Amino acid sequence: MGTIIEPFKIKMVEPIRFTTREERRRILQEAFFNPFLIKAEDIQIDLLTDSGTSAMSAAQWGAMMVADESYAGGRSFFRFEKVVKELTGKKHVIPTHQGRAAERILFSILGGKGKAIPNNNHFDTTRANIEHVGAEAVDLVIDEGKKPSLNHPFKGNIDIGKLEAFIERVRPENIPVGMITVTNNTGGGQPVSMANIRAASEVLHRHGIPLFLDCCRFAENAWFIKTREEGYADKTPKEIAQKMFSYCDGATMSCKKDGMGNIGGFIAMNDDALAEQARNLLILTEGFPTYGGLAARDLEALAVGLEEVLDENYLAYRHACVEYLAKKIVAEGVAIVQPPGGHAIFIDARAFLPHLPLNRYPGQALVCALYEAGGVRSVEVGSVMFGKPDPATGQETFAEMDLVRLAIPRRVYTQSHVDYLAEVVLDVFQNRDQVKGLRFVYQAPFLRHFTARFEQVEP
Ligand code: F0G
Repeated sequence: MGTIIEPFKIKMVEPIRFTTREERRRILQEAFFNPFLIKAEDIQIDLLTDSGTSAMSAAQWGAMMVADESYAGGRSFFRFEKVVKELTGKKHVIPTHQGRAAERILFSILGGKGKAIPNNNHFDTTRANIEHVGAEAVDLVIDEGKKPSLNHPFKGNIDIGKLEAFIERVRPENIPVGMITVTNNTGGGQPVSMANIRAASEVLHRHGIPLFLDCCRFAENAWFIKTREEGYADKTPKEIAQKMFSYCDGATMSCKKDGMGNIGGFIAMNDDALAEQARNLLILTEGFPTYGGLAARDLEALAVGLEEVLDENYLAYRHACVEYLAKKIVAEGVAIVQPPGGHAIFIDARAFLPHLPLNRYPGQALVCALYEAGGVRSVEVGSVMFGKPDPATGQETFAEMDLVRLAIPRRVYTQSHVDYLAEVVLDVFQNRDQVKGLRFVYQAPFLRHFTARFEQVEP
């Protein structure tokens, strides 16, 4: 039997509200062509993010009911801590309310003026938190990772040569930590090989620099290693994940992804002094170290989710779902980042809308067109997210790629939802000449994509 079916039955459903194209046109106008500003009830299929949008299992809901909500030393924390320790092998586990809280704490301690932090590609909140404390966030993904149409099994790899040159130039004392993001969300949800994690850790450690994984999608990365890297086919996803973590000194995690939860995160590390500083900051803004801004029921759900995510049937289905959508749209000529990522498909918006120049934001324009055509919400990962006006000249700098991400929530949509999605993408593709460009009418000084406002520009 070749069909990979959803490895779950549905016990609880949520209705979808359907809208007409006319309604959606008005809604887009009112949201200033920024889907972050659209009400979720006006969305039919929400692919804005795979973060915090997972459907939880009966086992997770069950665990929530028996949570221990004590302020300090609660049983649920120790359950969570045990699971994270077993997975990461790290000595200290500090819960946080989500990934960026972990980042803010870590970089408040390690960052500062004159410091630089390399990564394959920093995610936007990671970059923003590093820059917020005056340090520099540097992307060193391999060149293949920047070419959307190029096929490569591990396009998320960090360039080891560039990393060596970077350390040489910036000097180890100015590099408090090196990072690798698995999978590489910003670069298209692309995996990082075990060999690359090992090589990066060797280079960093040789210079006395610790390695932290941004491990939001560690299980998806483990699946790619299992299916693409020689020597791992017979290993379980859990064994592979544990090996990935064995090369690093710590990790920041958003459990809203591969934690299968709706909220939560952690920092894990071996360094005692760093952990003490992190816990002190945690108490200041997040909460006591045995709950870190979460309810104990969240910790329970995550303890279960972090194990469920490593189930092979789940990972095979997860991967098949993303691939299925990719195949359908690629067959009709839509250019996507190849190969499709672990949690999402990234459409190459510059190739999709060649009539729009960079300053008309083809990615954002495509996001709006997908919403208008079928009530599908996606997100731009391109110049709106990463470009910015030069402080001196006001001239806009553009991102290297303008991508549109269709992120697939975990265990939420069925195959017929995906069939519909493909129809929507192809409907826009057939009428792509009519898609209008956009210009900014408002932007915030950082993380501008969340609140930006646009207007359409007539050709
Ligand atoms: N690192 C990566 C690689 C991420 O993808 C995210 C979040 C974070 C860190 C921050 O975690 O949201 O819990 O604070 N990514 C979401 C997304 C928002 O849509 O890709 P957070």
